Amino acid sequence: MFWNMDCISGAKKYLADNSVDLIICDPPYGINGAKLDKHYNRNEDTVIDGYIEIPAKEYSDFSIQWIKEAQRILRPGGSIYIVSGYTNLRHILNALANTELTEINHIIWKYNFGVYTSKKFVSSHYHILYYAKPGRKRTFNTFAFFSDSERAQNGGAANYLDREDVWTINREYKPGQIKNKNQLPTALLAKMIMYASNPKDLVCDLFLGSFSTAKTALELDRRACGFELNKAAYDYQIKEIKKVKSGELLKFIKQPEQNALFNKGKPINNQEKFDILKEYSDLYRQGWTQKNSIEQITKKYGRGYWAILNLIKANPSSNNEQQNLFNQKSLDI
Ligand SMILES: C[S@@+](CC[C@H](N)C(=O)[O-])C[C@H]1O[C@@H](n2cnc3c(N)ncnc32)[C@H](O)[C@@H]1O
Repeated sequence: MFWNMDCISGAKKYLADNSVDLIICDPPYGINGAKLDKHYNRNEDTVIDGYIEIPAKEYSDFSIQWIKEAQRILRPGGSIYIVSGYTNLRHILNALANTELTEINHIIWKYNFGVYTSKKFVSSHYHILYYAKPGRKRTFNTFAFFSDSERAQNGGAANYLDREDVWTINREYKPGQIKNKNQLPTALLAKMIMYASNPKDLVCDLFLGSFSTAKTALELDRRACGFELNKAAYDYQIKEIKKVKSGELLKFIKQPEQNALFNKGKPINNQEKFDILKEYSDLYRQGWTQKNSIEQITKKYGRGYWAILNLIKANPSSNNEQQNLFNQKSLDI
């Protein structure tokens, strides 16, 4: 359900307490959004008119009111992401501090095409405040995209790197397409949704703009609802969202390697330790690097990179030709 109305009165009227699994909000920034084109020095011909801004002096009160509603509609254990520039960040943080919502992460989103400046540093980040409502277990899909054993191109652990709290995600360049001011990229929304919700969960955006949160949520097989006060944007996007195919994006989303760590957490016996160290020793003799050898062994034995590394470190003989003399009884991890 999508409503063309103010989100504060709209939520009060239409959304029950504890009814939403995930909220993603990108509220107006209180920096005179009607002039954002000059700020970003860009052509506004394809941007929908009527973006509704909040005057700076009302920003604090406005933030308190809508965040109070967000807290009410969020179910216990549900999460909320709020995207904010730095100008009015303090008002959002203050409003959050006045709720029972608890901070999970303060994420920095680094984007391309920052606002050009010549006499100071170029501003190229937003804040994403990731909070949750206490009371039940929070949904967090640690392996949404990468299993424990996958390596990134630079050789680091892909899962760890993807879960760092600085996200570098480019804005989408959509020449000629009708859009909202400040439209959020699908990759950013997909990351938030995949980690913090499950299929069929209800995702709410109180400031729909181009309905980008709602479209991405539906395309990821979630349900969606929200509000947009600007009639021109609402009228255009309510037709567009009917074209969205539920679950469509899931076909293109990177899946974690299946069962990559199928033995993780299971006790390791001496025979398996012996086999792993023997294999490592053989690969070492063939000239494999430590990293490549461990990655190979990780896949075969379904155990994590660090588990294998620790096993090797605890048994340094696996690094030399003495492996054949290896004594099973000396294994110690
Ligand atoms: C920063 S934009 C959201 C952009 C959106 N995330 C996207 O990707 O397209 C904020 C939106 O909130 C709308 N808005 C402003 N005040 C509102 C209110 N009280 N209730 C609902 N929507 C409002 C504005 O018209 C604008 O479209």
